[in-house]
Amino acid sequence: MHYQLWVAIKREPTICSPTNTRLPEHHIGALVYSRYEGQLQHTKTRIGYSYCPACNKTTKDYGGKKHTYHHYGTLISDVWRDIAVDPGGDIQIVLERFADLFGVEHYRDMQVYDLSPLLTHRRNAPKPGREFAPQAHISESALLNGDCLTELRRLPDNSVDFAFIDPPYNLKKEYRGYADDLNIRDYFKWCDTWISEVARVLRPGRTFALLNIPLWAIRHFLYLESVLEFQNWIVWDALSFALSFPVRMIMPAHYAILCFSKGESRPLPGLTGHAGDGDLPNSTLASKPLTPLEEGYCLRQRCVSKRLRAGMEDRGLLSDVWWDIHRLKHNSRRVDHPCQLPPQLLYRLIALFTEPGETVLDCFNGAGTTTLAAHQLGRQYVGIELEPQYHQLALERHREIDQGLDPFRKEARELTAKNSPVARLKKQKYEIPKKTLQLEVRRVAQLLGRLPTRADMIEYGQYPIRYYDEYFVSWGEVCAAARTTGMSETREGTQAGAKSSQPRLF
Ligand SMILES: C[S@@+](CC[C@H](N)C(=O)[O-])C[C@H]1O[C@@H](n2cnc3c(N)ncnc32)[C@H](O)[C@@H]1O
Repeated sequence: MHYQLWVAIKREPTICSPTNTRLPEHHIGALVYSRYEGQLQHTKTRIGYSYCPACNKTTKDYGGKKHTYHHYGTLISDVWRDIAVDPGGDIQIVLERFADLFGVEHYRDMQVYDLSPLLTHRRNAPKPGREFAPQAHISESALLNGDCLTELRRLPDNSVDFAFIDPPYNLKKEYRGYADDLNIRDYFKWCDTWISEVARVLRPGRTFALLNIPLWAIRHFLYLESVLEFQNWIVWDALSFALSFPVRMIMPAHYAILCFSKGESRPLPGLTGHAGDGDLPNSTLASKPLTPLEEGYCLRQRCVSKRLRAGMEDRGLLSDVWWDIHRLKHNSRRVDHPCQLPPQLLYRLIALFTEPGETVLDCFNGAGTTTLAAHQLGRQYVGIELEPQYHQLALERHREIDQGLDPFRKEARELTAKNSPVARLKKQKYEIPKKTLQLEVRRVAQLLGRLPTRADMIEYGQYPIRYYDEYFVSWGEVCAAARTTGMSETREGTQAGAKSSQPRLF
């Protein structure tokens, strides 16, 4: 069979740990495999917009791209938070969703096999007879420039309180000095080796969190389970706009953060009030890393500030589904590294799993997001990075903290690294706004009754073709507004309650 998709679906009721040794479990996973190769065949399925109860605008901010979105809603992603299911009870709502999704000619009938009577919620018993060596201390914070395995082997056993690892994903990212496209067996062999080393240096009762795409996380899970104890599978719904123009696609929006403890976990500092006051500069979101926004509230700065001034209660329970932390979208917040994480993600992880003064490890430290967040939160840190340029960058940013600067501040920087296979267009002044050009393509599409080609735009369009060639990364982007209706971000402007016209086959 061919792996297609891992969908995270909200579960209700949430399962809470009475000992606070793990986060409340708020999702289940649905794995989608196909008998055929190639792209998954499914209907183009849209999920209606949700609206912020405070400002009545869509929960997500579509910025200047509203004309490229549909009035009804957005294309479905691989995190389904608009429905909730009790896996031990009625799962009809999920069956209906799959019936909608696969309501295309390709499929003849739908069969449901309920194997739940065979399932028990199995957790492995703690590994028997494991002796842990006496605990060692790392005396001071350090940034090490070198290979993760070589440097990890120099660290003492049982010396680290929290390890967070965001490894290269083997997706052909353009790092300096590192080929991100190993043969997949070699990739996992390599991963298993550093996972063992990280497990060795971790203190008993402490957590190792590993971030990767869901498919790789499934494989990591198997190995991690053989050396550590499963704690949580966190779904980070990263609000990715990486694929802005998907066609017949389910937007891959989430990453998995696998959390495993060494032996039985201690109660988590962030759940038991031992994380410190988490006082951080600047952002109101960053200063409350352990209390996420209640679902539905938007992240627009104006609305966030207004809610704060009004003393509105907009905070919810922290669970294993994280949806209120964006990937870094604006270049002004990026430094020159192809895939840096948002600091808010690290504030939350570090505040959850450590107490002030404890030691945080990242052996793929990149531009330093983990160690910088640890530094700001008053933790010790050890960061390992292979590439000298990234190592230097992290060193400089730590110096900025010492000088009282926020290393995650907005600033105009010259960037060369890019987090996507699409080439960076040079900064330019648009003579005609891109929106106007895209709406012109919509006009021509309506005239022709189909999406126009480049030749059509030369013949029927009112703007020189060079604008389309110079301002857009692909013809797909040129046609983005022609493929849909455009949306309004306020609740009044939409057809609230409008029924979707998805065909249902089953
Ligand atoms: C996904 S990035 C980590 C980004 C980091 N989380 C951040 O926010 O900046 C992976 C990093 O691992 C580094 N790397 C690759 N192979 C390595 C190795 N063998 N030892 C140490 N670092 C390595 C790459 O240079 C890259 O900076």
